[in-house]
Amino acid sequence: MASDTPLDFEEARQQHQQLATSLHHHNYQYHALDRPEISDAEYDRLMQQLLQLEQQFPQLVTPESPSQRVGSTPLESFPPARHSQPMLSLENAFNTADLIEFDARIKRFLSSTADIEYICEPKLDGVAVALTYEQGKLVRGATRGNGTVGEDITQNIRTINAVPLQLRGDFPERLEVRGEVYMELAAFRQVNEQRREEGEATYANPRNLTAGSLRQLDARLTAARPLTMCCYGCGEMSGASPKSHMELLEALSRWGLKVNLDIVRVVPAIAGVAARYLELMEQRDDLPYEIDGMVVKVNAIELQQELGEKSRTPRWAIAGKFPARQEQTVVESVRLQVGRTGAITPVANLRPVNVSGVTVSSASLHNWDEIERLGVMIGDTVVVERAGDVIPDIVKVLTEHRTGQEQPIVQPERCPVCNSLVVREEGEVVPRCQGVDCPAQLKESLKHFCSRGAMDIEGLGDKFIDQMLRLELVSSLADLYRLKRDDLFQFERMGEKLAENLLGAIAASKQRPLENFIYGLGIRHVGNHLAKVLSRRYPDLDALAEADYDELIELHEIGPQVAKSVTLFFRTESNRQLLAELKKLGVKPQASASQPAGELFKGKTFVFTGALERFTRKEGEHLVEAQGGRASGSVSKKTDYVVAGPGAGSKLAKAEQLGIAVLSEEEFLQLLEKE
Ligand code: IVH
Repeated sequence: MASDTPLDFEEARQQHQQLATSLHHHNYQYHALDRPEISDAEYDRLMQQLLQLEQQFPQLVTPESPSQRVGSTPLESFPPARHSQPMLSLENAFNTADLIEFDARIKRFLSSTADIEYICEPKLDGVAVALTYEQGKLVRGATRGNGTVGEDITQNIRTINAVPLQLRGDFPERLEVRGEVYMELAAFRQVNEQRREEGEATYANPRNLTAGSLRQLDARLTAARPLTMCCYGCGEMSGASPKSHMELLEALSRWGLKVNLDIVRVVPAIAGVAARYLELMEQRDDLPYEIDGMVVKVNAIELQQELGEKSRTPRWAIAGKFPARQEQTVVESVRLQVGRTGAITPVANLRPVNVSGVTVSSASLHNWDEIERLGVMIGDTVVVERAGDVIPDIVKVLTEHRTGQEQPIVQPERCPVCNSLVVREEGEVVPRCQGVDCPAQLKESLKHFCSRGAMDIEGLGDKFIDQMLRLELVSSLADLYRLKRDDLFQFERMGEKLAENLLGAIAASKQRPLENFIYGLGIRHVGNHLAKVLSRRYPDLDALAEADYDELIELHEIGPQVAKSVTLFFRTESNRQLLAELKKLGVKPQASASQPAGELFKGKTFVFTGALERFTRKEGEHLVEAQGGRASGSVSKKTDYVVAGPGAGSKLAKAEQLGIAVLSEEEFLQLLEKE
């Protein structure tokens, strides 16, 4: 704003700095240490304040600002990134004997028989990345590439919450840190689950999903993927000189980087390495992320230097690989699943087989492109692998077992459930059932609508939904709210109490927060988080339904894909009808906490100044926002009211000079009472 005085900007800058420091701190507590100190809602609130300041003063936006995690303008391609020191890879060991041989080799090289201290780290199964920090600021993130030159993926790396944009504490002037970007299993399953529902191709394992996410030219797409990063070493580092690898890891952690110190072990000799290798193999299934082995490193940096490296691998480290969780079995038949959006997913029914302790009897075939890629047929002997997803994958067909009796897996022309036409649109990998009344789609939509995070209708699980459909009690989401007591008594094992509880839960869901409702509608690409983003911006569904593409795309975190799918959803006549029916039935989603509760101050801008006594500045600002007004840090011609406490100085003077209404705290509260 042209009329803002430098002092006002200075105040905004200070507030911004405080907010940024606080957000960096809480981000570190949550993503690097897994020890959150504040609620998600509180974090969101701080972020909103920061965003507001940045909107007002765009000069405050720096690459280190916590707001920059959402991605920005898409790139044409990734520029090359040369590593100042090559990113090496590791030799493999496949059992304890190989590890013992590794130790013997080291001793021979050093001409010593003394025990060697090792550090054992999990071998994370993700994508290796190098981060460069200058003066504590993240200036580059690059992939390994061929070890000498990788790709500059800085924009995408910035979206990863576990990557500090700014280091903390006694960080070195220049630091190139290395680690693995990966996705935790729970997040991976959720992404795949959502993609399955939406009929997008699913990923075979978290590593592929991570690699795919990092390769997005539009960083907003990367931002939507819950990636994380753990650091395990460094390239160039000025100043600091840790004596051991463990000291280095501890330093990295102090500087704000995520290091999995809790699972790293220092052992005094190779016997400890072998024991830890077997132990970690046992623990493997209990970890929240995938590991494919254990990395063993000589702990003393001096010894590492003495040992040096061969052409592409260091002599001082080795990867103790774990056996792949694979087995052979036979594809007995294929069933077709119809998802919420009509997407048809082929699933292989397998002859049951035990894969490292778990009985596997089906595997996802993902889609017909994947079937073609694998060349799989019914009756084939295949290799299946458990890799992260609950549903295992077929990794390979053993064609040498073919008898000639195998049958091709044909893409259906009609929906296996409703017999409607199945269409695979151009550019899509999945065929979809076109039936508007397809019971399979309705069933999945109902399940989603009732689920936790959506309308959260307790007790209304898969079993009852199945029965409701079988009894033809519902044929749309709206019918849920038309259910009567007597209808429920047609269900198996329904009692008085249960019926009452169910009706109560259905009735209660009419008042769910708007974000739950938006999520429950199952708009493509709108998950929990984006539903929240939309609910914050739009006070009610009507407003959201009217929003056009250009308006949506302007929103923080909303990309082209989402903006398109939201507008398409609300333009579709059947959806508009559904919303109208729900409204008539009394479904009235509640505006988000940060949505204005009233409109008393709509379009008005307030500035609070001086030592407020009746409420804090924050509280005052919230009161204004709750009434649809705007709170600003600086007085300008656009200010409508200045609320001044004792000791108010330059802002009060400026308000008087510009002839802006000045209120005491008392008068401000009286205004509010008029609501
Ligand atoms: S150290 C010179 N430590 O495994 C040392 N690597 O083939 C180079 N990896 O490309 C790597 N966890 O992507 C190291 N704790 C860990 C690791 C790790 C996973 C990956 C990394 C590297 C590959 C080695």
